[in-house]
Amino acid sequence: MIQIEVTLNSKKIKLKGHPMERLLDSIRNTGAIGTKEGCGEGECGACSILLDGKLVNSCLIPLAQVEACEIITVEGLAEGKKLNSLQQSFLQCGGAQCGICTPGMLIASTYLLNKFPIPSREEIKEGLAGNFCRCTGHTKIIESIENLNKKGCHYEGVCSKL
Ligand code: FES
Ligand code: FES
Repeated sequence: MIQIEVTLNSKKIKLKGHPMERLLDSIRNTGAIGTKEGCGEGECGACSILLDGKLVNSCLIPLAQVEACEIITVEGLAEGKKLNSLQQSFLQCGGAQCGICTPGMLIASTYLLNKFPIPSREEIKEGLAGNFCRCTGHTKIIESIENLNKKGCHYEGVCSKL
């Protein structure tokens, strides 16, 4: 067993577990169950998080590797109970259906928007290439991101290290 300190959604917390425990499980064990497990093999992106500003699959990261890291999960996107503009856009455009892929899509979109504030359709497709959705056929998800620009919404970035 190890115990390490991380910053999870702007709060310093301790994570305790086997060194090889998947970060996905360590995060969910804190009660932050927004991050989902899909394939468990690094293929679907459902477990996407931001780790020190990088987009990663938390099912592939062992707990032992994240000492002192900054972690952002879907719970870190809303401002209190208020959804941020990206989340509202997913809601308005039907970008979320069953919701299993949605936390990962929102995190991957956040990473994309921090790099390209007004992404082209190609950049959106590339940015979400590691995230799969079995419900929407991806079109509504792409439109959810494009909708931000149509409305002239400014996207508020969430990770100081991005
Ligand atoms: S659950 Fe991690 S990539 Fe699918
Ligand atoms: S909304 Fe169901 S898998 Fe994407």
